[in-house]
Amino acid sequence: MTLAAQFRRGVTTTSAHETQELAAAWARTLPPDCTIALHGDLGVGKTTFVQGLARGFGIAEPVTSPTFTIFTLHRGRDRTLIHLDAYRLETDREIESLMLEDFLITPWCLAVEWPERLAPWLPADAYHLELGITSNEYHTLKLR
Ligand SMILES: Nc1ncnc2c1ncn2[C@@H]1O[C@H](COP(=O)(O)OP(=O)(O)O)[C@@H](O)[C@H]1O
Ligand SMILES: [Mg+2]
Repeated sequence: MTLAAQFRRGVTTTSAHETQELAAAWARTLPPDCTIALHGDLGVGKTTFVQGLARGFGIAEPVTSPTFTIFTLHRGRDRTLIHLDAYRLETDREIESLMLEDFLITPWCLAVEWPERLAPWLPADAYHLELGITSNEYHTLKLR
């Protein structure tokens, strides 16, 4: 079964490392110029997943939560990763003022935490991943 098929069925991971390894493996299969919307509450592993994507794209620098900035740009060996945290965006006007499009130098991957904040702005072909935590503290991942 392909990784995408596993993601569609739903995957459970038991460590941050395992989540990162899955994300890294998936990153290597992604088409150029794609958007990944990471849904789920605080602490489900959205940033952890983006760290794995970065590794998969050959990005060596650390990926942290973009707490004081809305987005962070990482130039990797294979691709430019834009890590966007929409948590503090209040209107879709704000996303336009970021002029994000100017930073999307092909091939790029845009990973979005709190994508609900800019749902109308997201490309129609974005991947939507639902992240969660089960009652026994396992982290789950499912491609919508
Ligand atoms: N299976 C797992 N997958 C992802 N993260 C996990 C897992 N198990 C434990 N963790 C921990 O949970 C936390 C997830 O935090 P983070 O990725 O910042 O979440 P978010 O960005 O969704 O708020 C990290 O401290 C990570 O180490
Ligand atoms: Mg986060």
